[in-house]
Amino acid sequence: MSDQAEKLRKIVDNLIIPEHPEKGSKANRSARVLTVTSGKGGVGKTNITLNMAIALSKMGLRVVILDVDFGLANIDVMLGMSTKYTLVDLIRGERNIFEVLTDGPDNVKFLSGGSGVEELLQIDRAQLGKFISGIGLLDKLYDVILIDTGAGLSRNVMSFVMAADEVLLVTTPEPTAITDAYALIKMISRRDRHKIIRVIVNKADSPKEANDILSKLALVSEKFLSFNLQKLGYILYDELVPRAVKEQKPFFLSYPKSHVSQQIWQLAGS
Ligand SMILES: Nc1ncnc2c1ncn2[C@@H]1O[C@H](COP(=O)(O)OP(=O)(O)OP(=O)(O)O)[C@@H](O)[C@H]1O
Ligand SMILES: [Mg+2]
Repeated sequence: MSDQAEKLRKIVDNLIIPEHPEKGSKANRSARVLTVTSGKGGVGKTNITLNMAIALSKMGLRVVILDVDFGLANIDVMLGMSTKYTLVDLIRGERNIFEVLTDGPDNVKFLSGGSGVEELLQIDRAQLGKFISGIGLLDKLYDVILIDTGAGLSRNVMSFVMAADEVLLVTTPEPTAITDAYALIKMISRRDRHKIIRVIVNKADSPKEANDILSKLALVSEKFLSFNLQKLGYILYDELVPRAVKEQKPFFLSYPKSHVSQQIWQLAGS
């Protein structure tokens, strides 16, 4: 095996399924890598990622979003923007990580996932490892790297979860979403029992409903997994969210004074 290949294999081994979790930890990094994920799909990950990114930027942080929802990406659609390059160009090795970033609103940079591209579903281990190690190159230029993933327990998603400093796990009050969130917590905690997982309940009907779910999830994680789950907070159901999606402009910008924007602001500051 050549030196280069050997190096790559090590990166992939350490980043994809860390045998020694401490190796994947913050060590020399300066940027916070936050991976936004969920068990069930459609719970609000992309909306939370995008609006939280803008909130963090308004707080003075340098923020980049990596849309890695392989095949079904949509940060660019939510922004009503088309980008010159996407994740596809990066994965194919035709562009580097700096070249594929696009200027979004409020100084937020983003990597577009490249919607509907079949080949991304077949991304191999080496390509994935290379991409994840490429994220390290953004470290000095940004304060926060937000990674928006697809839903579920796929290998791709797990790789981004394991590479993160913190996982923002989104669920809704639906029992199916909660069960899937718990399944994900179980899987992550088995791989790394020190991983920081912070839960957000989205589309809640009331603060009480959300807080009850957060408490229950923390309790069962403690009891059955001996895992310390963190409760980040909640966002209530709000018609402004789908409206902003239709208008292709983040609600945090269109409706900055709304309750939902205030809730995002609060989550971003936590
Ligand atoms: N707080 C909310 N109130 C009302 N509707 C919401 C809220 N959050 C998200 N939605 C709606 O839920 C739908 C899914 O949102 P979004 O695309 O952000 O979810 P996702 O988790 O990224 O989905 P996917 O798993 O497909 O990537 C959208 O139609 C969005 O408008
Ligand atoms: Mg999404």
